Formats: sequence, structure tokens, C-alpha cells
Amino acid sequence: MALTGLMWYGFLVGHLAGNLTLLSGDSGAAFDEYAGFLESIPQFIIPTELILLLALALHVYCAVSLSREAAAARPIGYRQLRSVGGRSVASRSMIWSGLLILVFLGVHIFTFKYGDRIDGSLFRLVQETFGHAIWAGFYLIVMVALGLHLWHALRSAFQTLGLSARPTLRRLSIAFCTIIAGGFALIPATMFLGG
Ligand code: HEM
Repeated sequence: MALTGLMWYGFLVGHLAGNLTLLSGDSGAAFDEYAGFLESIPQFIIPTELILLLALALHVYCAVSLSREAAAARPIGYRQLRSVGGRSVASRSMIWSGLLILVFLGVHIFTFKYGDRIDGSLFRLVQETFGHAIWAGFYLIVMVALGLHLWHALRSAFQTLGLSARPTLRRLSIAFCTIIAGGFALIPATMFLGG
């Protein structure tokens, strides 16, 4: 799970960096140029997409297997859920945040990758989409779930490696997840407000 998740962290950093050009205030020139550049290198993009898809499928498969094993090991659930032994709101909601992100991905790719560009501009399609409160709101909610999901995933990985007690790592991972989720959230928020 950790390895397949890690590939997505790499993708998210690159995707965020590219998408922040949406906010460069040049009516989409930089973003459309960036999107055009990506389309001009299918020999890189297509294998990357396939690897990400495979990683996602494996990630979901592992998540389903793990929750089945957990349910089988404890057929009668806990009477009371308490935040002890590293359990937190994020850890309990992992399966739900994961499901929401999965639904989001389907909708997101359908809207932007396969959506009709406006006058050939992907920027204008994104701008038009985030002009609707419902879309901007949906993205903001998903980005909160994404931040929690990423944060708990890092916590679990550190726990497995025996590094969970290190406060610096904890702070760094919180900062990293906040930058990723917050960075993505900034885009619909700014564009909705007309930026
Ligand atoms: C405000 C946030 C986001 C914006 C504005 C955004 C924008 C876009 C756009 C415009 C595309 C189409 C690219 C193209 O056709 O050239 C795209 C594709 C994609 N996005 Fe996002 N994205 C955001 C957040 C996310 C997040 C959080 C994830 C993952 C959890 C994600 C995963 C993807 C994937 C997998 C693709 C397809 C990439 C490909 O097939 O090449 N995006 N995104």
C-alpha cells in the first residue's frame, strides 16, 4: 500500500506545481501552454498514466483486503471508539476519505481530461467549472478529505518504520499534507472568487 500510495504523492506534487499556473493571472496563457506541452510528450504521459492507474488499482485492492482481514479478526466491532494508540479522526475515516477521493477522481478526469474545452482552451473549461459554487464547494470538501488521507497515510508509514515518535517528522508530514491539500484548494477557491 505504501509503495503504490507513494507514487501518487509524486504525481500530486507535479500536478499541483503545474496547476498553480492556473493562478498566474495571464488569462490562462501559461496553463494552456503547460497543458499543450504535456500533450506533446505522449511517450512520457501514457506510460505514467498506466503506472498510476495500476498503482491505484493495487492500492484499492490492498485497502479492501486489509479491511476484510480487520473485520474477520474482530467480527464484533469496538463498543466505543476512542483516540488511543495512534487512532485518530483521520485513521478511522481512511476508508471514507479514500472512497470519496476515488469518486472524485472519476468525476475529475471526466470533467477536465475528457470535457469539452472552451474555444480550445483547457484554462477556460477549468475557469467555467470553478465559477459554479457547487463545483468549487465539492473540490474544497474533497481537498479536506485528501489532506487527512495523505496525512494519515504518512503517519502509518512512519509507524511501520518505527519513526512515529519523532516530532520533527510529524510536523514535516503535517506541513507537507497541508501544502498539498491547501495548494489544490486554493485553485477552486481563488477561481470561484474571480481570480
Ligand atoms: C484544484 C485541484 C485540481 C485541478 C485544478 C486539476 C486540474 C486537472 C486538469 C485540468 C486535468 C486535465 C489535464 C489534461 O487533460 O491535460 C487533470 C487531470 C488529472 N488530475 Fe487533476 N486537478 C486537481 C486536483 C487533482 C487531485 C487532487 C488529483 C488526485 C487525487 C488529481 C488527479 C488527476 C489525474 C489522475 C488526472 C489525469 C492525468 C492524465 O491522465 O494525464 N487532480 N487535472
